[in-house]
Amino acid sequence: MNIGHHALANNLFVAPMAGVTDRPFRQLCKKLGAGYAVSEMVTSRPDLRDSLKTSRRANHEGEVEPVAVQIAGTDAQMMAQAAAYNIDRGAQIIDINMGCPAKKVCNKWAGSALMQDEPLALQIVEAVVAACAPHNVPVTLKMRTGWSASHKNALALARAFESAGVQMITVHGRTREQGYKGLAEYDTVAAVKAAIRIPVVANGDINTPEKARDVLAFTGADAVMIGRAAQGRPWIFRELAHFLATGTVLAPPLVAEVRRLLLDHLLDHYTLYGEVTGVRTARKHIGWYVRGLPEGEAFRAEMNLLDSCEAQLAAVGQFFDGLGDRMDRMPAGMGGEEDGLEPVVNNDNNKERTAA
Ligand SMILES: Cc1cc2nc3c(=O)[nH]c(=O)nc-3n(C[C@H](O)[C@H](O)[C@H](O)COP(=O)(O)O)c2cc1C
Repeated sequence: MNIGHHALANNLFVAPMAGVTDRPFRQLCKKLGAGYAVSEMVTSRPDLRDSLKTSRRANHEGEVEPVAVQIAGTDAQMMAQAAAYNIDRGAQIIDINMGCPAKKVCNKWAGSALMQDEPLALQIVEAVVAACAPHNVPVTLKMRTGWSASHKNALALARAFESAGVQMITVHGRTREQGYKGLAEYDTVAAVKAAIRIPVVANGDINTPEKARDVLAFTGADAVMIGRAAQGRPWIFRELAHFLATGTVLAPPLVAEVRRLLLDHLLDHYTLYGEVTGVRTARKHIGWYVRGLPEGEAFRAEMNLLDSCEAQLAAVGQFFDGLGDRMDRMPAGMGGEEDGLEPVVNNDNNKERTAA
């Protein structure tokens, strides 16, 4: 599987998730079998480039190549400049966000809302492709099936984007109107795949190896992209890879391995965010790792009261030691989902909250 001239390790991708798929988490997923990971969305607004949040998102130190950065915005020239800016800082692939249901940038709806304004969407794509071409940087794009059930325009847009020079398209099988409700459908993904020649990636509700196999077979897509099912369960990628290669289900990881993975994840996380923000933002990851485990809920509540790296690491170590006394391996099919929804960006103060 290639994106432009970049060869990927496999066709199992990590979905971009703002507030989740930061560099430490992407690196962990890649170590555990993901072939590709796109950064969390970065805004195209130049005035926010120096914000701590945006500069952390632009940190790609030690990232397994290719480094792919997703940009979001509503202004073609600003998006072109954002592409060039990120290329200067190490981006080897630029991904355009037309998939998020609730992103407001400059008081205009970006993300999947752009699908409602086809001329503007195309203008943005053309400007970004023109900015990336001199650097030989491929442009990819992520979108939904359409604006609403009666306006599913993914197929027409995919054709136009391919003609404009986009080199890979990911389709999340929901409309913008759906948010995260209902089920993802794959008919539209299959129709897009059949209509264009560039690689197509299927996304939405893929949470087991069997589902990945079925979606690949049904849509003919070149790759699958996994979001919420990887939260607290980054080893899902090696489970998918093993199943797709052999048709057999890999045993869940040993508790001792997950203990080590999570502690390493936390150390990497603190290095990027520092102690205060690091401890706070690590809580959701820890919550996903322990979700559904015996005593997991009580631990999650207790852990939310701890405010130093040392205390958080010690508590996590103890929790998994205790779990290891009860069982050797993690129970099958664990992982965060319901509470792992999209953060909504409030443009006025650039703060995030978690959508219910
Ligand atoms: C917490 C969260 C943050 C997300 N942030 C982004 C984002 O920054 N860019 C994007 O294109 N999609 C974003 N998404 C959408 C996911 O990439 C993906 O399309 C969606 O979750 C469906 O896939 P899944 O069912 O495997 O989770 C986000 C989703 C979640 C849950």
